[in-house]
Amino acid sequence: MTAMISDTAKAVKIINGVWWVGVNDHLNPLFEGMWALPDGMRYNAYLVQGKNKTALIELSRDGFAEPFIRKIDEIIPLSEIDYIIHNHLEPDHSGIIPIIYKRCPQAKVLATAKGKSFLKQFYGEGERVDAVNDGDSIDLGGRTLRFLSYPWLHWPDTMFTYLEEDKVLFPCDAFGGYGAPEKGLFDDEIDLQTYWPEAKRYLGTIVASYLGHVVKAIDKWLKGGMGINILCPSHGPVYRGNPMSIISRYQEWAKNDKSDKVVMIVGSMWGNTHEMGAIVKHRLEKNGLEVKYFDAALAEPGQVLGEMLNAGGIVFGAPTYDANIYPRLEYFLMLFKGKKKNGYPVATFNQNSWNVNITPKINSYLEDMKSQIIPPQVVGHGAPDAEIRKELELMADNLTAKIRDACFIPQA
Ligand code: FEO
Repeated sequence: MTAMISDTAKAVKIINGVWWVGVNDHLNPLFEGMWALPDGMRYNAYLVQGKNKTALIELSRDGFAEPFIRKIDEIIPLSEIDYIIHNHLEPDHSGIIPIIYKRCPQAKVLATAKGKSFLKQFYGEGERVDAVNDGDSIDLGGRTLRFLSYPWLHWPDTMFTYLEEDKVLFPCDAFGGYGAPEKGLFDDEIDLQTYWPEAKRYLGTIVASYLGHVVKAIDKWLKGGMGINILCPSHGPVYRGNPMSIISRYQEWAKNDKSDKVVMIVGSMWGNTHEMGAIVKHRLEKNGLEVKYFDAALAEPGQVLGEMLNAGGIVFGAPTYDANIYPRLEYFLMLFKGKKKNGYPVATFNQNSWNVNITPKINSYLEDMKSQIIPPQVVGHGAPDAEIRKELELMADNLTAKIRDACFIPQA
């Protein structure tokens, strides 16, 4: 990977002895090789200084060692770090390990037992790591860092680190979001109304398969009564104004309560399938439902998954291509299956111009997702005629009824 410096930000003091030393990535167009980064990505890392010891919480992805080390050196020589703490070992937080470990050979490395095994797998570094258990702590000299197990946020290795005396929580991926605005690290310095959709898109893409763990983790944290003055996630802003603003949003989004919103994903080569989609969309909206319509060929998958949070139903529309499902639509079927979009009411329509009906192929995905398939599954033969229009409208009405039934939404 490139070693060029893309990030010219300086270290930022959060409170006395607690510093942001993360990286703003405006080089990589995709996160996890899949999710668009129109405003970059921030890999937050933090330096915590006690009277006797200094701890570094998280590192950065590969390619950013130079701006990362530069920030730390503004505060303390990297070689004087006493602890390196890994809350989670996905490479966006650990990619520069080979460089950093060499530069501070005496630092103790702390991670969960699962994190230790990931360190061995990814970097061959398991021997150097002390595994910590839920509730363990270290004393930096007047400052205590406590480690709290929160697996599956977002990998099984994940823990939170909590600075007890100052009530500062470092929860890694939890409460994160996309984006790395050049100005403004803190929640009270940025326009949160424009940021929330990027936080929701992050939750919908990265932690989407583990939403139940998010809900349980928030309950566990709130019941623990430990309190948060400052929330320092590993992505997105630092919350010193109102940490509950993001926690309560994550809670609401992760509950994934069904609403009267329908996500439609429709692919089309020459417009006929979009014509069918327009009929369905119009009917659903006439029935009083909210419709988010995506063109399968152009949609950013992360946006679609972000909209799936709290959706009540799904519509897939596809032409036949090479006797199979139009590939750009099939990608979303694969994605939804992988992200466990299970049990939704799903309506489908497709095209069969050459005597190849792809409905069974679509249904094999829907069966894996235990979808509630809405009749009729409409098969067109080019431009929709009056009969097809009638079938599409009936399908839209049946989907509306199913969603209203499931959401207890009153008739329009
Ligand atoms: Fe930000 Fe799961 O890594």
